[in-house]
Amino acid sequence: MERTLAILKPDCTRKSLIGEVIARIQKAGFTVRALRMVQLTRAEAEKFYAVHRERPFFDELVDFMTSGSCVPMVLEKENAVADFRTLIGATDPEEAAEGTIRRDFADNKGQNIVHGSDSIENGLQEANYFFAEKDLVSLGG
Ligand code: RTP
Ligand code: MG
Repeated sequence: MERTLAILKPDCTRKSLIGEVIARIQKAGFTVRALRMVQLTRAEAEKFYAVHRERPFFDELVDFMTSGSCVPMVLEKENAVADFRTLIGATDPEEAAEGTIRRDFADNKGQNIVHGSDSIENGLQEANYFFAEKDLVSLGG
């Protein structure tokens, strides 16, 4: 079964939306196989988003991702990577489709509630960033 790595970002935890967003994820048919709460260091956030290192928003992104608690989780579903990107919507909530998580909860393009892996390969790599194989429960919920 395909896996993706989601992260509830610090704006999600600050707005007390963890439960609501996870409910949407579960209702959309994703199985949660692993989940934890973390406070990322700058080095960890920089490493996670290293692909964006040269982008103008990189420092702002690292500031934001280290500004509060994050909730990474491994999600499983057929077509998990693409279906999760559909569920969360476009990066900028103003461009996100009606009914998507970012459209409904995000304030702006920088602070957009949730991360989703952008490829199957990155999904596996990002899951390994936060979880060991032994942390993945076999049945999930
Ligand atoms: P993510 O990786 O977090 O799932 O988001 P994404 O694929 O939709 O967007 P990506 O291009 O990978 O950008 C990563 C995160 O950087 C912040 N960002 N800010 N101010 C800006 O113009 C800007 N552009 C991107 C967002 O937090 C975005 O989710
Ligand atoms: Mg991305």
